[in-house]
Amino acid sequence: MDSNSIVSIVSKFSKAWGQMLGSVDVAIDLGTAVTRIGIVGKGIVLKEPTFIGLNTKTNEYIFFGEEAKQIYGKTPNFIKIVKPVENSILSDFDACVALIDAFTKRAVFPYYAHNRLIRTGLNAYVSIPSSATEVQQKATAEAVKRVGYVRAMLIQKPFLAAMGAGFNIFGQTPIFVVDIGAGSVEIAVIIMGGIVASRTLILGGDNLDRHIANYIHLKYGIITGELTVEGLKPSLLNYENHDASATIRGKSLENGLPKSVKITSSDIREAISPAINQLIDGIKEVIETLPPEIVDGVFRTGAVLTGGLGTCPGLDHFISSEVKIPIIASQSSENATMQGLLTLATQKDVLPRILV
Ligand SMILES: Nc1ncnc2c1ncn2[C@@H]1O[C@H](COP(=O)(O)OP(=O)(O)OP(=O)(O)O)[C@@H](O)[C@H]1O
Ligand SMILES: [Mg+2]
Repeated sequence: MDSNSIVSIVSKFSKAWGQMLGSVDVAIDLGTAVTRIGIVGKGIVLKEPTFIGLNTKTNEYIFFGEEAKQIYGKTPNFIKIVKPVENSILSDFDACVALIDAFTKRAVFPYYAHNRLIRTGLNAYVSIPSSATEVQQKATAEAVKRVGYVRAMLIQKPFLAAMGAGFNIFGQTPIFVVDIGAGSVEIAVIIMGGIVASRTLILGGDNLDRHIANYIHLKYGIITGELTVEGLKPSLLNYENHDASATIRGKSLENGLPKSVKITSSDIREAISPAINQLIDGIKEVIETLPPEIVDGVFRTGAVLTGGLGTCPGLDHFISSEVKIPIIASQSSENATMQGLLTLATQKDVLPRILV
């Protein structure tokens, strides 16, 4: 018997064994800023920053998630901290495999500890941007399979965000969803399990952070660390005319020394206003492309806001006043995509209709 036949027999045996043990459905949302993992029937079991650290001397990944983010920008040259997802798409394949592997071992294995064979029965339900190309879809599925998942089922993010926000995406009422994450904004109108109009904008939280960093640079003359800037949105950004302030430290452009400056909510609103205007234009463009029968429904039911930016106080009402349709932030805004994965993974009858 040649080695290929042996591999094939072993693979068939392990698959059958995995099925005998009962497969485990795992939901994976590899976001630009945050990776979430859930187990169907148990809920969310991991929420960690999408950061990984490589020791370039040994070529080993040694820091994962929060521990990698904590040392971002503070490491010696031979330790490289990377964000392996950019604009919501895998940008560093090997790093993504290593990250999913580490997170799976950390969060999924404890539930099935001491039983390596169960690993053959792990199914992955994975979120994917609606704009992902076929090559990007294949890379995402391949990354998950490399970790040891038997199957990787990809589902487009707008379906997941809408489902996670509590809507029936298979019904005849149009669902308008605007998911604002760290890497991209997904704007889509869904009806009867299909997308009738959509746009993806590279305008997520990371893009807003770049606007904020530029603004601070120009107005206050300091260079700030990426993580310092990222921390400003949750504490200062709101559209409720409530002005908060925070003192941050950066490097003075004048003399290169550390310098403190006070940043206010109105600074942040002003800094990101060009990006928010682009977002508003994107939503208007999607509305303009809708067929007349659907546009009427959308004006009555409005849109739901999901994603990390959905938790920004008053952003929903601000956008609503500009685009003239009701917009409400989802209660489960931040985790909507993950909730959608966990819900859809249980709906085996309708699932094939929306798998990529
Ligand atoms: N209260 C808040 N106000 C404003 N921004 C916030 C708030 N809370 C989180 N964010 C921002 O939300 C973003 C993270 O959102 P989310 O977890 O949806 O992103 P992601 O899923 O990692 O990215 P993506 O789905 O785009 O790849 C970050 O940019 C973060 O700074
Ligand atoms: Mg996301």
